[in-house]
Amino acid sequence: MKNIVILISGRGSNMEAVVRAAEAEQWPARIAAVISNRADAKGLEFAAARGIPTAVVPNKEYPTREAFDAALQAVIDGFAPDLVVLAGFMRILTPGFVEHYAGRMLNIHPSLLPLFPGLHTHEAALAAGHAEHGATVHFVTAELDHGPMVDQARVAVLPGDTPETLAQRLLVQEHILYPRAIRWFIEDKLTVENGQVYGPHRPHDSALS
Ligand code: GAR
Repeated sequence: MKNIVILISGRGSNMEAVVRAAEAEQWPARIAAVISNRADAKGLEFAAARGIPTAVVPNKEYPTREAFDAALQAVIDGFAPDLVVLAGFMRILTPGFVEHYAGRMLNIHPSLLPLFPGLHTHEAALAAGHAEHGATVHFVTAELDHGPMVDQARVAVLPGDTPETLAQRLLVQEHILYPRAIRWFIEDKLTVENGQVYGPHRPHDSALS
């Protein structure tokens, strides 16, 4: 059994999709804990109701990013994670923290990376006039929203789309994309060589149309 620790900051719908998939598909893994930097993160309620251990490490109580990341790391490591899953965890991570989980920390970002790293990705895709938008699952490296790509999901941008309608349509795909990618990791189907992921999908081969 592998241990998965999931970090959230808010709604936690991707975390919920992962928890449901792990149960329904009987992954050889357990969700060891759901941890948030915010006590009011809605997703904590879902996790607690499922009997999953939860913890809060409030970033506001730490004077520096380094101090926060050190406290967070101590809590995460208490659950002996094989994989750390960032699911809407809205904190910039320090290089030391990222290095500690190198090769065992995944993130989902709501854009077709390398397009639109950072915040407000749906607004950016609309402003750019792109016909397609998407989400990317990647291994976490020190540079924000970079790191070897595991897989991407794409959605069409429709006439009349707002950031909200686009985000909602994409979220449905995120809930398929992320559990599938995490399952590949759990099943040892992903290898990283020279910054590229080799596995069931190789998104670096697919250019944005
Ligand atoms: C998701 O759309 C995820 O891709 C995005 O935040 C949302 C969290 O929703 N992540 C980022 O923007 C990370 N830079 P959720 O809490 O319902 O899973």
